Amino acid sequence: MDEIKLPISGAIVAVHAEAEERARTIQTADDAEQFRIHFLARKGGVGALFDEMHNVPPEHKPLVGKQLNELRAGVTALYEDAKARIAAGEVKEEPQIDLSLPGKFHAIGSTHPITQTIDDMKRIFASMGFAVADGPEIEDDYHNFEALNFAPDHPARDMQDTFFVDKDILLRTHTSPVQIRVMQNQKPPIRAIMPGRVYRNEAVSARSYCLFHQVEGLYVDKNVTFSELKGTLVAFAKEFYGSSLKYKFRPSFFPFTEPSLEMDITCFLCKGKGCRMCKDSGWLEVLGAGMVHPNVLKNCDIDPEIYTGFAFGTGIERIAILRHGIPDIRMLFENDLRFLKQF
Ligand code: DAH
Repeated sequence: MDEIKLPISGAIVAVHAEAEERARTIQTADDAEQFRIHFLARKGGVGALFDEMHNVPPEHKPLVGKQLNELRAGVTALYEDAKARIAAGEVKEEPQIDLSLPGKFHAIGSTHPITQTIDDMKRIFASMGFAVADGPEIEDDYHNFEALNFAPDHPARDMQDTFFVDKDILLRTHTSPVQIRVMQNQKPPIRAIMPGRVYRNEAVSARSYCLFHQVEGLYVDKNVTFSELKGTLVAFAKEFYGSSLKYKFRPSFFPFTEPSLEMDITCFLCKGKGCRMCKDSGWLEVLGAGMVHPNVLKNCDIDPEIYTGFAFGTGIERIAILRHGIPDIRMLFENDLRFLKQF
């Protein structure tokens, strides 16, 4: 007699094969649960075949029923087996993600107070049309002194104790030589600020260090006037120190400017009453400035009969120290994170 092809027995074989295939991929308790729902729940793959029983002719029911029971037992065994493997640690549980844990933070640095101060000055002068220029820290005597109208025996050369690298080579004592380099490379109109490091062979103390920073300014064009210099400095100072600032100009002397001035502002520590910071005068000297000396223009091939200009220079450390109440200038150079993190 031919073997009878029982109804739904093909489907039983297919579900069993699918269950075996899928059981192999079970890795986690969650996978096992998905497997159980897919095959063994009331409406799952096995359950659905049991629902087909009413279509099976009565004479075949005993055999199909037996096959279905075997299928359910087989799939259940696959499920129990997978669970046992997970419990025994043979299958690794995926690490659970704890969304309530705090994120990972990467420590980022802060801007050094000197850089902050220079950046503020760049921003303010940029709004007045000043570009930023740069020059070398190792200079020659010509750019640092001679072209700036310091005569060879000029007493101002003694005012600045210089680190010499060689007979005519030195660490620049101010940013003014960058003025020369800018004027040698560019024709007027010139409007630039020049921030940078400068070096002086001074006794190191809480108030002075052998290196510090300056910002130099230069404006050369036709008809540049002394009142424009004062207007520019006042506009800068009000923006930088606050609009309620009180200031005064004093006549001064620099070889590279004529006439020259120095600008004082009311001491921000004592508001002008007099304190240790301002040496009881109520005033703080903040910058030197003046009209560019005709000899300096000539040294850069700029005709002083046609062009005039003004220049100014200011120290950065002093400003940063005053702004933040830093007790010792050396703190700005020690790179101690406990100090730097405060800015
Ligand atoms: N270079 C001067 C110094 O180091 C500062 C200075 C004064 C710069 C007057 C200038 C200026 O450009 O016009 O003391």
